[in-house]
Amino acid sequence: MDFPPSKLPHVGTTIFTVMSQLAAEHGAINLGQGFPGFPIDAELIENVHQAMKLGFNQYAPMTGLTSLREQIGLKMQRLWNREFNIQTQINITAGASQAIFTAIGALIQPGDEVILFAPAYDCYAPAIELNGGVVKWVNLQYPSFEIPWDALNGLLSKKTRLVMINTPHNPTGKVWSLDEMKRMADWVRLHQLYLISDEVYEHITFDGRPHVSMAQFEEISEQTMLVYSFGKTFHATGWKLGYAIGPEQWMTEFRKQHQFNVFTCNTPFQWAIAEYMKDHTRYQKISPMYQAKRDLVVRELFASAFENLPAAGTYFQLIFWKGESSLSDVELAKKWTIENGVTLIPTSVFYPDQKDNRVFRLCFAKENEELERGMRQIAGIGLKA
Ligand SMILES: Cc1ncc(COP(=O)(O)O)c(C=O)c1O
Repeated sequence: MDFPPSKLPHVGTTIFTVMSQLAAEHGAINLGQGFPGFPIDAELIENVHQAMKLGFNQYAPMTGLTSLREQIGLKMQRLWNREFNIQTQINITAGASQAIFTAIGALIQPGDEVILFAPAYDCYAPAIELNGGVVKWVNLQYPSFEIPWDALNGLLSKKTRLVMINTPHNPTGKVWSLDEMKRMADWVRLHQLYLISDEVYEHITFDGRPHVSMAQFEEISEQTMLVYSFGKTFHATGWKLGYAIGPEQWMTEFRKQHQFNVFTCNTPFQWAIAEYMKDHTRYQKISPMYQAKRDLVVRELFASAFENLPAAGTYFQLIFWKGESSLSDVELAKKWTIENGVTLIPTSVFYPDQKDNRVFRLCFAKENEELERGMRQIAGIGLKA
């Protein structure tokens, strides 16, 4: 019996898996992997133990533990002076990925068009396509990654339903300014579009640059779904917990899908985070820790064949290779893994047209000792390949 045709014919094994396997085979230092290489706070682990011992081991409510949604509500109030209804507007999810997938599924009808900025995180386009939507790509201007407003207007049609943004941005490290966010909010309102604002790196910004949330723009609150990840904030990506905040109408449809797909997320981990968030200063300590690592990378690049592109947030640094080669960026990344013992992610994989700018993504969410070893390997890469 023939299996029906693939619904995602263009999706294969991701470059992240390919490069991580290659790194493991050759014992290379893996600065490609996009997750923290250091332990989480021991108190969080203790909280999980305690939750389990206290008996929080059965299904949590479909929408998430009330105590956790309360903490999120308080946080949004504190940070953005916004009141969200924790019963109808906030939902705990299995990471930001599920929040994004469900928000798209709840909204997109076959034939709807969705505007995405390239380079983009890789889970957006497949979620749109699986729901019969059509992706309209627009490239952020290279190398400043500014928003191409004219090109954006050219993409609008009667079928445009949704635009998705991500700030602080993976993989570029761009942090959208207040002006850019305001202009986007105005644009979305003018054209009556929906917006998903992926803010998973909200607490990782540098050099005093603030994160601006779409939560600040109340005038588009009926059109906006905000998405967050505890994995990024508390260095616990493997816990796969996040949340979505949106208007009631959108959230009602969101929950119809969530309840039959995920139903609910694991209870003791939700409880552990709710307890931890009672001290609201915790997430404020993250930026300085990451900024020191970003600075270490930039310092060490100085005498290498690479230069950094300015990055204001996330735990990624883009680095431009100044050398010459007939190899593609993907081939170069493989070659350096095998011959130079360090693994980077080629950024062409974040573009639908595989745009090769000779730019690579380096993840600096690593212990300093590993980061320093990685940077020494990078220093060994020459100008010819
Ligand atoms: C921009 C962006 N959005 C969403 C996610 C997914 O987050 P989670 O692990 O919470 O699903 C990631 C993870 O790398 C990301 O970089």
